[in-house]
Amino acid sequence: MPSEHEQTLKRYNRIAPFYDVMEGVVEGLFFSRLRKTIWAQVQGSDILEVGVGTGKNFAYYPQQATMTGIDFSPVMLQQAKIKKQKRNVQVDLQQMDVESLYYADNSFDTVIGTFLFCSVPRPKRGLQELYRVCKPGGQVLLLEHVLSSQPTMASMMNFLNPAVKAMMGANINRQTVKNVQSCAFQKVLLDPASGHIIKLIKAIK
Ligand SMILES: C[S@@+](CC[C@H](N)C(=O)[O-])C[C@H]1O[C@@H](n2cnc3c(N)ncnc32)[C@H](O)[C@@H]1O
Repeated sequence: MPSEHEQTLKRYNRIAPFYDVMEGVVEGLFFSRLRKTIWAQVQGSDILEVGVGTGKNFAYYPQQATMTGIDFSPVMLQQAKIKKQKRNVQVDLQQMDVESLYYADNSFDTVIGTFLFCSVPRPKRGLQELYRVCKPGGQVLLLEHVLSSQPTMASMMNFLNPAVKAMMGANINRQTVKNVQSCAFQKVLLDPASGHIIKLIKAIK
């Protein structure tokens, strides 16, 4: 039986060519506003975007920073490379697993990820890697959907999770805020734009 890692990778490789279209409506209605809010908080000159996907965040990249983007799906990355070329985006794109980053400790001022930790097979391991490569005093910024804090909604999300995961490769019942809090960050803050499912998380190392 394929590992969770292999299954997730296969799903993203499969949906990559349709990903932007599949997400089009929610992107326009909700996500683009949230992306703008989180990217406005990026600081420093060395920025790492983890789980870059098809490059949906390129529009929000700061002009003066050195940008690096990683993703473990070669087909998602291929879509990002097409977008990079079309829009002349300055970013070094690399195929890499967030659970095992090739970068040295304390390399980046900001590490940012959007809608990533719903699908990372071992999320705590990935978050520890984000902590490791972030500079002391630097920040990890995350925009994530998590298990609702409302009990009825949470039960429904737990029930539906296997089906959603099989179709989309993403879990809808992750406890990402708790997982970030379990890392060694000095502070973990939630942006007021957060709701009971969507969270904008800022963690300071
Ligand atoms: C839901 S998509 C989000 C893509 C993009 N961040 C966005 O906001 O549209 C999740 C992305 O995370 C990537 N991913 C999942 N697990 C990963 C891992 N362990 N290492 C690197 N990338 C991973 C997938 O390949 C996919 O591109």
